[in-house]
Amino acid sequence: MRAAAIPRRRCLQALALAGVPALGAAQGVVTIRLSHVVARQTPKGLALERFRERVQSLSQGRIQVVIYPNSALFGDADEIQALQLGAVDMLAPSLSKFGRVGFPEFELFDLPFLFDSKEQVHRVMHSAIGRELLAALERQRMVGLGYLDNGFKHMSANRPLLAPQDFVGLRMRIQSSRVIAHQMRALGAKPVVLGFGETRRALATGVVDGTENPVSNLWTQRMHEVQTDLSLTRHGYLGYCVVVNQRFWNHLPQADRALVRQAMTEALDWGNTIAQYENDEALAHLRLRGGTRIHVPDEDQRQRLRQATQEVSLGLQGRIGRQWIDRVHTLLASKSAG
Ligand code: LMR
Repeated sequence: MRAAAIPRRRCLQALALAGVPALGAAQGVVTIRLSHVVARQTPKGLALERFRERVQSLSQGRIQVVIYPNSALFGDADEIQALQLGAVDMLAPSLSKFGRVGFPEFELFDLPFLFDSKEQVHRVMHSAIGRELLAALERQRMVGLGYLDNGFKHMSANRPLLAPQDFVGLRMRIQSSRVIAHQMRALGAKPVVLGFGETRRALATGVVDGTENPVSNLWTQRMHEVQTDLSLTRHGYLGYCVVVNQRFWNHLPQADRALVRQAMTEALDWGNTIAQYENDEALAHLRLRGGTRIHVPDEDQRQRLRQATQEVSLGLQGRIGRQWIDRVHTLLASKSAG
């Protein structure tokens, strides 16, 4: 039976109990099972494909990466648990999804209007803050291999979402981030946490009224077929952290760890160079296709959205940790001053 046809929890338990070996029996052959929730033609899908190719090439075929995209094996609800149980070896969840599993400090990346540009995001990721966040993952038996961009998120619904009053009463699908939930409430909407793989159907059936994501994710899931309006609000950032099961990692020979790290660093660097292009292309496709009303808020409108969500940082500083937020502000201010 195909894995996708088995109820997720049973599939997860069966795989974990079967103790799928990390290392193959034959001559140091290694298979890395990598699960993710988005389509191949996205910044994450493409970067992970690149990783697969680089690993294969650097190891001359000895290390193989098997990728399960599009929530085919595990979805948002169970992928981190699957990693911890050893049912998969590697994941690249959005930074937002680490909050729920004991890393609320990762949700600082979700703070609305915190970053004006990806350069600012990268400054944080490449600073001591970013390194400490990666190191913290060991608490939950995960090894963080690096960060990857998607891009800035926009708002989708069956109406323009350009001012706080446009959100009132809407049920908005969100990822499992308390910061994003608070953001939606601050705008007057009701946040509904749903797996990414379930979002399109929930929009189609009216379970939810709208959602947020970078355009590459909306386009490749064909959310435009079930939503009439896209508002280019650029209100928050979406990025990822690649994690590997610690036990799997520790069992790899030192040389293989170095090889996998090198392949991943190259793939993530490359992924960060194409992420913007993929989002621009998705928007171009959307415009060309027609049928979606695309709204670009003016500076006044963005300012009002920013003001309406200002309370989020204050309200969630207890959860994220005030020291993390202060350090990010200090870092961004010091660089922009210099
Ligand atoms: C979402 O759940 O909206 C996104 O995080 C999906 C992804 O991994 O890009």
